Amino acid sequence: MADSATPAPRATTNRSTTPQSSGFSDYISSGWAERVDVDVVPRDQAAFAADRRARLSQLHTGKRLIVPAGAAKVRSNDTDYPFRAHSTFAHLTGWGSDAVAGSVLVMEPSASGHTATLYFRPAAGRDTSEFYANPDAGEFWTGPRPSLSNVATDLGLETRPLVDFEAVLDLVDGNTFIVRDGDRDVTDQVDGRRLLSADSESLENDGDKDLSRDLSELRLVKDAFEVSEMRSAVDATQLGFNDVIADLPNIVEHARGERLVEGTFNRRARAEGNTVGYDTIAASGPHACVLHWTRNDGPVNPGDLILIDAGIELDSYYTADITRTLPISGTFTEIQRRVYDAVLEAADAAFAIVRPGIKFRDVHAEAMRVIAEKTAEWGVLPVSAEESLLPDNQYHRRYMVHGTSHHLGIDVHDCAAARRDMYLDGVLEPGMVFTIEPGLYFQPDDITVPEEYRGIGVRIEDDILVTDDGAENLSVNIPRTADAVEAWIARS
Ligand code: GLY
Ligand code: MN
Repeated sequence: MADSATPAPRATTNRSTTPQSSGFSDYISSGWAERVDVDVVPRDQAAFAADRRARLSQLHTGKRLIVPAGAAKVRSNDTDYPFRAHSTFAHLTGWGSDAVAGSVLVMEPSASGHTATLYFRPAAGRDTSEFYANPDAGEFWTGPRPSLSNVATDLGLETRPLVDFEAVLDLVDGNTFIVRDGDRDVTDQVDGRRLLSADSESLENDGDKDLSRDLSELRLVKDAFEVSEMRSAVDATQLGFNDVIADLPNIVEHARGERLVEGTFNRRARAEGNTVGYDTIAASGPHACVLHWTRNDGPVNPGDLILIDAGIELDSYYTADITRTLPISGTFTEIQRRVYDAVLEAADAAFAIVRPGIKFRDVHAEAMRVIAEKTAEWGVLPVSAEESLLPDNQYHRRYMVHGTSHHLGIDVHDCAAARRDMYLDGVLEPGMVFTIEPGLYFQPDDITVPEEYRGIGVRIEDDILVTDDGAENLSVNIPRTADAVEAWIARS
């Protein structure tokens, strides 16, 4: 079927060679075998996504909810970044790396709660020029799209062509709420209609914020599918780290060895999953003191440490987030090991207290207790550890300015719109997944520390699942102790 919701191709008239004659369009539109829809069964995640929608429905009784997947973002001129659907859309539909750009989930209030309908651009027919003449969406250019019935079965959702979303826009009123950052164009259209509707109050609709907040908070506790995906993401990430270690002999030979680290890890990410969950940090030597070093254009020199912060995102979009700091030559120097062991002690101390009922912020406090004690012990603080830990002092934070933990899931920094009361000041519950990632970073020009510490940066990051009576370190099998890290490199 022709679908007028297909976007017009971006102008490339100065180099287009597509034949315009009716003879050609008649010819290319004919001679195709009938399409046969492949049989699909509902994906495992479909039932979980239905449950998530049911919980959202209970929180927003009687409201029309719009959750757009978003469009691909321009990288340059007419080339885009790879499309990634908005995380809230993926969470509520179960559609991940195979989602069709431009889709919109609508939850229409009904007597029994809400009726969910997924609007998307289905496969275009050969009676349109789209399939051969549209580089942005045409089948010859970007591959076939699924049919409405195929997706309906796959995701267990009612589906409609995207052109029908116009009719939803016609219903938009002050009781319609949207995930604003899902798709700017759809949000603008909804805002426009709300402005016209008699009962809309303002464009700064608090209801939109409430929707995003609730969607974030729904993700604080992971369901069984999500926990299983997190385990798989960590396992895939372990393979990526193994690859990097096996490649170290090549890496140290190259002038931009950090780029090779990134390339080797990211290769595994593309092979095992969708991609990386965030830009890989390959920070060798003093670059490790830059918390989010992603330029990765430096050498990897024997004798230094390399901090690698990397995670594989699966096709479902769930991602791991792991950091390991490795001695490039295979063995830690005495001072490197001292710093490493201190960070490990902070990580272990934080992990030891994790159980349902404690506060999220307690995990950070426990790691900071160790960081303060160690830096005081080494004589780099102007006061004792106890004094440094007082809220008005915090001198030890000079060497670790970031937090110890963040929630992890479909976004690397998951649950970003959750209230502080539910996040930093929230109480841990079974099913929560977060990182524990203390570090110590002694900048190369920091004259508050003895010279031997300068330029050393260490972070150890694991992914933690809160269980019924404690916690499980999902990444415990990726070597963590200094001895285990040395043995890991030696084995390769
Ligand atoms: N892995 C990067 C971060 O947590 O900020
Ligand atoms: Mn992290």
